[in-house]
Amino acid sequence: MSAYFSISLGLLCSAMTVFAASAEPSVPHLREGQLIVDGRPFFVRGGELSNSHGEPDYLRPSWAKLRALNLNTVLAPVYWNLIEAEEGQFDFATVEGLLADARANDMRLVLLWFGSWKNSMSAYVPAWVKRDTMRFPRVLDSAGRAHEILSPFVAANAEADSRAFAALMRYLRENDGEHTVILVQVENEIGMIPEPRDHRPEADQAFSGPVPAALLKSLRERAASDSLATNQLLRGRARVGAHIEEGTWAEVFGEGVEAEEIFMAWQFACYTEQVASAGLAELALPLYTNAALIRPGYQPGQYPSGGPLPHLFDVWRAGAPSLSFLAPDIYFQNFTYWARHYARDANPLFIPEALRSNEAAIHALYVLGEHRAIGFSPFAIESTPEPTASYLAASYDLIRQLTPLFRPSHEKSGARQSAGLLKESAETKQPQQVRLGNWTIYAHFEHTAPYSLGEGGAVIVGQDNSVFDGVGVAGAMPGQLSPAGGLVLMLGEDEFLFAGMGLTLTFASAETGAWQAGLLNVEEGRFDEHGDWQHVRWLNGDQTHQGRHVRLEPGRFCIQRVRLYRYR
Ligand code: DGJ
Repeated sequence: MSAYFSISLGLLCSAMTVFAASAEPSVPHLREGQLIVDGRPFFVRGGELSNSHGEPDYLRPSWAKLRALNLNTVLAPVYWNLIEAEEGQFDFATVEGLLADARANDMRLVLLWFGSWKNSMSAYVPAWVKRDTMRFPRVLDSAGRAHEILSPFVAANAEADSRAFAALMRYLRENDGEHTVILVQVENEIGMIPEPRDHRPEADQAFSGPVPAALLKSLRERAASDSLATNQLLRGRARVGAHIEEGTWAEVFGEGVEAEEIFMAWQFACYTEQVASAGLAELALPLYTNAALIRPGYQPGQYPSGGPLPHLFDVWRAGAPSLSFLAPDIYFQNFTYWARHYARDANPLFIPEALRSNEAAIHALYVLGEHRAIGFSPFAIESTPEPTASYLAASYDLIRQLTPLFRPSHEKSGARQSAGLLKESAETKQPQQVRLGNWTIYAHFEHTAPYSLGEGGAVIVGQDNSVFDGVGVAGAMPGQLSPAGGLVLMLGEDEFLFAGMGLTLTFASAETGAWQAGLLNVEEGRFDEHGDWQHVRWLNGDQTHQGRHVRLEPGRFCIQRVRLYRYR
């Protein structure tokens, strides 16, 4: 038995407490792919406010609800037009209010810089920028028509945005010594619409000129190191891989919208770098930017062209090295696909916006178990209806208990020690198979409606103590199916924690020979505020189908600790 496996859960958690107590308070930062806040690994149990819900007075009545959802972090916009209504005159009253109220509610903040771009458009730039189209030009389409999007090819635009962002970060340095703000998003869903690229004269000139040497050098290096993104980008091009030759954008990347998109990605990245680095010079918080994803069949320009998308990772990394990571806003059903595409090439996974569905509660557990994500955050969190709110609150409660167990050192051996449990798609019929250590786990998903009270109380209880049995909670549809999934964490060679609901788990020994897998015991429990395991009940008999499986019933989140043995 390895040293790691011999550590009991209690000891593991006590070790965490000692580690935390001795750690120096420091600026939040990334270490080994994890977000470190106050010296400890931190998972953002987040929720993003809807766009016009970020002014402190308006937001104030919502804090009780945000707390009840078991959030530890609120993602809140900072509006350029409000903090710099007059050029060079900064008013941080809205930020001051957010900081005070977040602290009063024991909450952290991720600030979203609605600067030059918000969903491609430039609606949040101050009036003095909006009105002065000579000084702050907009993009032009191929017909020469202007769109309300600041052109990334104009130095004055980047300079004005950089000055404002730097002022924000300076304000945080001077007024947020306790690091209520843990991450900052630079801009929001950048990308050119409704065409693949800007057609301003500066843009046309740059497009017919050479691809910058810095980009070529970086792509060559990344291609040589076999970066997946670069290879995707260059696949099908005449000059592939480490031997990309110099030339114009069309010569290097081909005649077509792909080249135009790469061109925009580089320009957006360089602009964002100018803004981000100006902010970092004031305060070294981790910065990121987020992407609007691609609807199936859409072309660049139909979706925001040149945003921080997986096939453009290497362009963004070359152009914007001040960003700590790139993040997806996942509103689509193929959640696992997009999560996987952002959790690679050393990009820590953080989901600043997710669809506020019942499945969000499962997705949060999944990204922690599968990808050791930094955090998760449904959008328009303040108006989450039932039963979604109760599901999310219950899931975040489990994550609060489990976060101390997820440390980089768990993966040091190179062997995987946790996994997310989630169907790849609604059509998937086969059980998910997960290999952890010497065991194969088969996860079957049960989306049945929660049982009625008469069938044994497999229900969720709303924040208002209402009981959801498929009909009882406001907003619930009769017969609505409960989401299913969660995570598994390996505690020892033969010991696992499962967290989630709607799961039936069977096991097989991966060792050769005729060994069969048996349940030594199955225990439901909780971790208390000290990280110590508290027994709730032993599960056996009907609850384990007389020893044949482990079951986390539909409609009720729980943690089960399972010890296996082999027999023949
Ligand atoms: C994605 C944007 O980033 C958000 O600010 C918001 O507009 C949502 N879309 C709305 O669905």
